Amino acid sequence: MGESMRWIVRGLAALVALSASAFAQDTYEARVTIRADRPGAVIRPELHGQFSEFLGSGITGGLWVGETSSIPNTRGWRNDVIGALKELGVPVIRWPGGCYADRYHWRDGIGPRAERPVRLNTTWGGVEERNEVGTHEFMDLVEQLGAHAYINANVGTGSPREAADWLEYMTSATNSALAQERRRNGRAEPWEVPYWALGNELWQCGGNLRPAEYATLYRLFATYQWAPEGKRPKIIVAGAYDTDYVWTRGLMENIPIAQMDAITLHHFSLPTGSWTGPKGPATGFGEDQWFSIMRRAHDMDDYIRRHDAIMDAHDPEQKVGLYIDEWSNWYDVEPGKPRSSLYQQNTLRDAVTAAVNLNIFQAHADRVRMANITQMVNVLQAMILTDGPRMLRTPTYHTFMLYKPFRGATSLPVEVRAPDYRFGRERTISLSVSAARDTSGAVVLGIANMDPRRGARISVSGVAGQSIAGRIITAEAMDARNTFEAPDALVPADFSAARFVGGGLLVDAPAKSVIVLTVR
Ligand code: AHR
Repeated sequence: MGESMRWIVRGLAALVALSASAFAQDTYEARVTIRADRPGAVIRPELHGQFSEFLGSGITGGLWVGETSSIPNTRGWRNDVIGALKELGVPVIRWPGGCYADRYHWRDGIGPRAERPVRLNTTWGGVEERNEVGTHEFMDLVEQLGAHAYINANVGTGSPREAADWLEYMTSATNSALAQERRRNGRAEPWEVPYWALGNELWQCGGNLRPAEYATLYRLFATYQWAPEGKRPKIIVAGAYDTDYVWTRGLMENIPIAQMDAITLHHFSLPTGSWTGPKGPATGFGEDQWFSIMRRAHDMDDYIRRHDAIMDAHDPEQKVGLYIDEWSNWYDVEPGKPRSSLYQQNTLRDAVTAAVNLNIFQAHADRVRMANITQMVNVLQAMILTDGPRMLRTPTYHTFMLYKPFRGATSLPVEVRAPDYRFGRERTISLSVSAARDTSGAVVLGIANMDPRRGARISVSGVAGQSIAGRIITAEAMDARNTFEAPDALVPADFSAARFVGGGLLVDAPAKSVIVLTVR
């Protein structure tokens, strides 16, 4: 065989090998265009916010162990969890609920701890709530974490006066009886309370009201909420669930814009879609439940668009924000845990949908000004799981870590062209992408390849630079996870399969992966 023939044979062999490996990887092609010429809104750090309710071990045990605990703590808050949350950076924490907010009476949680009343948490299992964590303790947590406080006041079983007194207790620097009481309880200076919600899910656990009924109640409550000049919190209206556009419309029609700063929206993804039957397990699921969770996560985009359109009709200047103050995946409770604890494991599936949700919020940063994952520790799609003195960071935590560069960056519109992710006769998107320009000028890209079987070869245009830094979360198994025995089994790794090609980027995203790239 002559030299030239040998080269042809080698070339053909290489071609066969390339296509064989491409086939083995089963890759789809995608095109992403970043519209850096059309910058959007600043991505508020609050889009990466948290939520902590008196529910299961979400607070007691998971965060709070008390000063006398053998678990190392600072004024009762466990040091290991606080350390992990400080690394993550918590922009804002919503508290004390959730549904519990409309049963919570703030006076139960002030004064000497030993004298605080024990109440029954009738929202979550009827368990005893000792009220060891009250206003002073929660605000200590907020200050230890350097977060903003988002307090959800009680409308369902409260009164305008009870809520107004609480706000005065926290924010007044005067000699009023409430401010003096706060001082006697150990806090001289007022606290910062930037966010103040009036009720939660008034359409169910908050009172089973109709939109116009709650709107009337809201106007009454809002009238009496007062804080000193410069300390006025944003006042938040308890909004809808998923597709309840009637609720949002009812609020927009019945509450003057001047009386509200934001309306909320809640959305949970359940694998089976059933609230009454089994929801589906957090681990050990098949592709059917991977698919349904991906599709439910993507639904968020449509919900935001439609609620936003209703708000636009009444508020074209976008004075009122949309806060997604509860969002997460919701599975069956982990075997062996109390039903009311809502304790669930967290896997690669959750990491991927966390990225999908953050991409959606960031793309809608003009209207969406806060989002709070449900919840921070031990409840639903948590950042942290604890077991006695042990703690682990979940895959969702790692997605939030990867997405930190987006905080404070300016959202850039993104156009994605990719084949759908099909499962049986159903389909959803396969690729979710968001982009932003940070304050140093670098472009940050968040990519979630939702397809569990196919890698994505992504051509990105509209971005240029000299260097690419990348991090990835991926694994072989759809339910790869961290356990107390192996807490770092699934952690981010450096990602190098992105390179500059002809004025853009070429990114090879493995199946079921989350990637964040910073291009300088
Ligand atoms: O996050 C758990 C519960 O889900 C909250 O208390 C409630 O607001 C929602 O329905």
